[in-house]
Amino acid sequence: MNQQTLRVLVIEDNPGDARLIAALLSVANTAVFAVESAETLASGIARLRDDKFDAVLLDLNLPDSSGLQTFLDLQAEIESVPIVVLSGLGDEELGLRAVKEGAQDYLIKGKVETDVLERSLRYALERKRSEEAIRRQTHELQRNEKLLRQLLDIQERERQLVAYDIHDGFVQDVVGAKMMLDSLEHKLEATDESRIRLATARELLQKAIDEGRRMISELRPLIIDEQGIVEAIHYLINEEQSKGDLSLEFHHSVRFTRLPRLLEGALFRIVQEGLTNVRRHSQAATASITLVQREGGISLCIDDAGIGFDAARISDDRFGVRGIQERARLFGGTAKVQSSPGEGTHIEVEFPLSEADLEDV
Ligand SMILES: Nc1ncnc2c1ncn2[C@@H]1O[C@H](COP(=O)(O)OP(=O)(O)O)[C@@H](O)[C@H]1O
Ligand SMILES: [Mg+2]
Repeated sequence: MNQQTLRVLVIEDNPGDARLIAALLSVANTAVFAVESAETLASGIARLRDDKFDAVLLDLNLPDSSGLQTFLDLQAEIESVPIVVLSGLGDEELGLRAVKEGAQDYLIKGKVETDVLERSLRYALERKRSEEAIRRQTHELQRNEKLLRQLLDIQERERQLVAYDIHDGFVQDVVGAKMMLDSLEHKLEATDESRIRLATARELLQKAIDEGRRMISELRPLIIDEQGIVEAIHYLINEEQSKGDLSLEFHHSVRFTRLPRLLEGALFRIVQEGLTNVRRHSQAATASITLVQREGGISLCIDDAGIGFDAARISDDRFGVRGIQERARLFGGTAKVQSSPGEGTHIEVEFPLSEADLEDV
């Protein structure tokens, strides 16, 4: 059977101890251990920089370094190689401390036998590999989240641009055209056939204006960028109330006037989704929104006393509630969705907010 070869660097100033370790590993039977040694921390670090090793056995007391610091200095140099610490009899406390700081294991000198040493090194290697894999995945996840935040930002910005375009171009033109037709009305006789056509044309133009305004408010109401999130929520509430008989309350207690654009966008989308859900699903006649600024953060609650739902059983093809949770998470916050059939729904989103966030606005 072809056995794996593992390169081990023993950093140990006592040549006798180093030789003993090499001898113990030479009769290991689960892998071939190629053992090299260094007598000082500096020469060990130099070897590790030049060459690739699978594991390090480290004596904590060396001519150029002693105690836990030996381990800390080595670890700072070589993050990816697992380190097993060698401590003297009576020094177990030190060994344990090294493990707490990230050493894979500690062995007591003079008390190790081949199988213990072998197992310790192999486990160290496996554990380190898993740690590395987790670290890589975490890093990847962080990168993806950053990307997602950037995409959300781009999306908000584009919506803002399109909203402005519709507002300043399309809607302005149609409003102008309608005003002209309005001014013609009194010039026509009440019986004039054209007067009826004119009225129809004016109605059509009014519809186009309303439609344009609806599109703007769904894209990104200009009021967010002009007056901030509190006014934007007032606006949203008016819009929602004009659609039916839902009655909404808004309580707010904040000291900021403006928040970072991305955060304003996130809060707005959360309120928008929350209110749409209340109207569409809750059957409640009233609902409330609460926005509070606290020390170091803001919290936003959306409450209704409607039919409620089982938040743990939202089907995979629904994205509203999940979008609320994702947005909160992406901005370092949390979202609690408390609801159960017959109990109404309470959504609570918390965002961290630092002084620096407010200064950048
Ligand atoms: N305020 C609410 N009251 C009652 N049920 C709700 C409420 N909000 C959400 N739901 C339920 O949760 C489901 C998922 O909501 P959501 O993720 O926003 O998707 P969608 O609104 O597109 O259905 C809804 O279909 C509805 O059954
Ligand atoms: Mg929804």
